[in-house]
Amino acid sequence: VHWQPTDITRQEHARLKNQTPRVLWFTGLSGSGKSTIANEVEKSLNLMNRHTFLLDGDNVRHGLNKDLGFTEADRIENIRRVGEVARLMADAGLIVLTAFISPFRAERELVRAMLPEGEFIEIFVDTPLNVAEARDVKGLYKKARSGQLKNFTGIDSPYEPPEHPEIRVNTVEMTPEQAAEHIIRKIMPLK
Ligand code: PPS
Repeated sequence: VHWQPTDITRQEHARLKNQTPRVLWFTGLSGSGKSTIANEVEKSLNLMNRHTFLLDGDNVRHGLNKDLGFTEADRIENIRRVGEVARLMADAGLIVLTAFISPFRAERELVRAMLPEGEFIEIFVDTPLNVAEARDVKGLYKKARSGQLKNFTGIDSPYEPPEHPEIRVNTVEMTPEQAAEHIIRKIMPLK
């Protein structure tokens, strides 16, 4: 297979959209608030006339990655594919937001390495396990504790928190709206 160069480059795509592509990579435990906060950030960017796309774990697992489960190997493949899709979308000039647990440092770093310097922004949605478990919006922690659900992140499957995320949001002290505002302030100006 040979790489086929295209005349319209990623720079052209970005220029037409009048923005610098970015991948805002949200990571955190199940129920940490990744999707909610990423949604808020996307709404704000949309109001600023930015061209965005939000890739969400639950949604991607209904389509592109519906063949994958939650073993270590499947999670690695999940993040690899999502990384490739995010890169294609950034090549198309978009500001991409992703909301996946993405539990392993190595895969997050792999995605960072796929992108031009400075384009990958790791956002750690820092919600302690006991808080996410107390919320248990989907009732999954209860199932995991009772053994009905295996390989659940934070219970019997590991989560490796980022060591040097570009942005960290503490969801115990901030509402999702405040967290989104904090992120927007940090990433501005986007150009
Ligand atoms: S991963 O680890 O990045 O591949 O996971 P992701 O694609 O983000 O999918 C996480 C959502 O899947 C649901 N779910 C589970 N999560 C963790 N562990 C296990 N075993 C599991 N089984 C199902 C859960 O709803 C996650 O959604 P969020 O939004 O993170 O709570």
